[in-house]
Amino acid sequence: MSLFITFEGIEGSGKSTQIPLLAQKLRDLHHPVIVTREPGGCPLADRIRRLLLCPDQEPMAPEAELMLYMAARAQHMREVILPALVKNIIVLCDRFSDATTAYQGIARGLDTAFIENINRFVTSGRRPDLTLLFDLPAEEGLRRSRRRNQDCGIETDRLERESLDFHRRVREGYLRLAAGDPERFRTLDASLPVAAVSAAVAAAVLPFLS
Ligand code: TMP
Repeated sequence: MSLFITFEGIEGSGKSTQIPLLAQKLRDLHHPVIVTREPGGCPLADRIRRLLLCPDQEPMAPEAELMLYMAARAQHMREVILPALVKNIIVLCDRFSDATTAYQGIARGLDTAFIENINRFVTSGRRPDLTLLFDLPAEEGLRRSRRRNQDCGIETDRLERESLDFHRRVREGYLRLAAGDPERFRTLDASLPVAAVSAAVAAAVLPFLS
């Protein structure tokens, strides 16, 4: 069974806590699973990720930023996602094409129809079967991600340094995308405790396993 699930949400929405929990549940049910992420997931895309997120990067033109995310996605798709799907391995991907529409399209103001076209090109038209949107207010997400960075001694990355307004636009963008494609999206309340969110994730995914 080929199943491609993506996880979307603003910074601090808890995706990276929930993805391993779901992966373990699926493995317990004897499903082969890989966990991957964007930008990144293979050596070339990981190098592009470092360029994109490095806080010391000189100011990046929005058009250049868009093309770097797309280049990373093209390589990741060819090298990791499509080969896994062909082998009927379930792919859990932390962020994917909706992130580009929400961040570079809706929040930065680039043309979303153009972004959709390039997304189709770099993904060979393979869309996620299910997209889980972890939704919470931008203030709360940024508070959580700053606390996590402090606790783990991680430097705040280039995107996390964007304004609260930018992150609010990303959230609104994601909600708009979810409202426009209710078949593919499930929106989860990411402000709930971890166990409650994990139960909601399992409830959303289990129907796709039969
Ligand atoms: P993260 O993997 O630690 O969440 O960091 C990735 C950052 O890159 C996050 O701020 C969202 C951003 N991003 C985009 O702006 N566009 C994209 O297409 C993707 C995949 C991520």
